[in-house]
Amino acid sequence: MTEHRLIMAFESSADETSVAIIRDGNEIVSLETATQIKSHQRFGGIVPEVASRHHIEQVTLLADAALQDADVTYDDLTAITVTQGPGLVGALLIGVTAAKTIAWAHNLPLVPVIHLAGHISAANFVEPIQYPALALMVSGGHTELVLMREEYDYLVIGDTRDDAAGECYDKVGRTMGLKYPSGKIIDEMAHRGEDAYDLPRAMLNEDNFDFSFSGLKSAVINLMHNAEQRGESVDLDNLATSFQHAVVDVLVGKTERALKAYPVKSFIVAGGVAANQGLRDGLNELMQQFPDTRYIPVPIALAGDNAAMIGAAGDIAYRHGKRGEWDLNANPALEFNYLEE
Ligand code: KG4
Ligand code: ZN
Repeated sequence: MTEHRLIMAFESSADETSVAIIRDGNEIVSLETATQIKSHQRFGGIVPEVASRHHIEQVTLLADAALQDADVTYDDLTAITVTQGPGLVGALLIGVTAAKTIAWAHNLPLVPVIHLAGHISAANFVEPIQYPALALMVSGGHTELVLMREEYDYLVIGDTRDDAAGECYDKVGRTMGLKYPSGKIIDEMAHRGEDAYDLPRAMLNEDNFDFSFSGLKSAVINLMHNAEQRGESVDLDNLATSFQHAVVDVLVGKTERALKAYPVKSFIVAGGVAANQGLRDGLNELMQQFPDTRYIPVPIALAGDNAAMIGAAGDIAYRHGKRGEWDLNANPALEFNYLEE
């Protein structure tokens, strides 16, 4: 009988506390997540101290629940994996400390992972990623094109010069008077409206894989303010549609450029913004042009932050021999390397 790997994973980089138990890197045995969105909503964004306090309250309860739901004990586990960064330092510290304590107490290997590797590895719950692979990683904090020449090799070929795509959704949503986080709400509005406003598509035609979203954000804010000053009303559904078209055009356009420059076996779209229906439709259409590349959109339920994806990334890191020492610390600035050519 072959031995199965059973990995317990912790995620606490932002406003979700999450613990999962993952078998062989591709099967969710249990997943327990506590979201704090309601606590942060009235501030229009994440308040770091509030986030840390919620993580402390939840983490041990979720660990117990994950074991119970999986019907296993610590003795059945192969390793403990945790998001080391990037994220809010005080929030990360709770997951890292919980993981270290459990690994030490139960004599288990400790495996630190980069949060973004987690987002991408969620694709393995759909089908095995084949290498070389490319990922469009779009979240509240990141907008990157990541090349993986082989497993456990993550290299950034392009990223945002300013705001991340999700951050742009949230800031535009705030201007439109929507609740935080606004991505999903704008996505729904965009499907009701018409593309009536002319908005910029920054860097779309530049010969690189980088993004810039701050100009688009400013254009929407200016449009709202100018209309207000003139006493005109803005059709928010139409604005949402025009805004979403601008974001999707740039994300899809840069992905097309990257897929032409780097022919790959798998293409993955991951991160919270990967739940966006407009983006999924745009990429579906784009991928018709690349029949030799498997298109793997991360399931919508696993696109946002969760510990299952960290377990999938942790399984890869574990197999590649990555181990954390007992002095492992949270690293809020942890990033992938850039491809040097
Ligand atoms: O990956 P994630 O859960 O957290 C980070 O690691 O940042 O991403 C959260 C971001 C938020 O900015 C949220 O507005 C955005 O993902 N988001 C969306 C959608 N659902 C979530 N953006 C656009 N369309 C959506 N349907
Ligand atoms: Zn994330």
